[in-house]
Amino acid sequence: MAYVQIDDVRLAYDDVGSGPELLLLHGYPFNRSLWAEQVKALSGTFRVITPDLRGFGESEFSEDVSTMNRMAQDIARLMDALEISNATVGGLSMGGYVVFTFYKQFASRVRGLVLADTRPQADTEEAKQVRTQQSEQILASGMAGVTDAMLPKLLTPETVTKRPEVVKQLRDMMLKTKPGGASAALRGMAAREDHTALLPQISVPTLILVGREDPITPLQDSEKMHDKIAGSRLVVIENASHVSNIEQSAIFNTELSSFLDGVND
Ligand code: MLT
Repeated sequence: MAYVQIDDVRLAYDDVGSGPELLLLHGYPFNRSLWAEQVKALSGTFRVITPDLRGFGESEFSEDVSTMNRMAQDIARLMDALEISNATVGGLSMGGYVVFTFYKQFASRVRGLVLADTRPQADTEEAKQVRTQQSEQILASGMAGVTDAMLPKLLTPETVTKRPEVVKQLRDMMLKTKPGGASAALRGMAAREDHTALLPQISVPTLILVGREDPITPLQDSEKMHDKIAGSRLVVIENASHVSNIEQSAIFNTELSSFLDGVND
């Protein structure tokens, strides 16, 4: 693990392997260890960079609201620090929200896009209110409540029953998240812009992956992205919910690896 200083915030990241660069951005309320299986599978062939987004894992945060814009700027600064001019950039869920913002601002630095269990729309007014309540709840009483509420949506019922180690991995990751960092990201997600209009402008190879049973960013959202992003590939992962990269890591990695081979040909 290494750090990069971005103004008043120290950002943690892993940088493993060598070859064409791949940046992977985790979802909420996780950290870079979300991508452990992808790092293991891909770092023999690619240089895989996994940051802790500000406020998560071992990264600091400095404001009450961590906007997607600020997180996208952090990624550009991290790439500067690592002397990476362009890369394939991927994100899961909130990580995907950051990827859209990054593409909007820094399209020339993107060789390919990976959109996993994510969506381009902004929050509805109702969803924004829920985020506000959750961020207050987290600040008042920590991550336990939100962890218990989210866990059944992150994994299929079968995984929850039969793979306790996967449940534990996610639970531990969520409970370790700093309440202030999670709360700032919730406010940032509530403030994010709608990127639907950006989709037809995406002109780099794009891989869309989604768990068939994902209730948070459902299959229909991925189908819409696939319709609107010319030439994109949609992979629907069976027996997977929202955290498809962990729940079905083998198929996720196979698809990601063959996509990256095509991007970097
Ligand atoms: C995530 O996994 O990043 C979150 O569920 C996204 C969200 O709450 O919109």
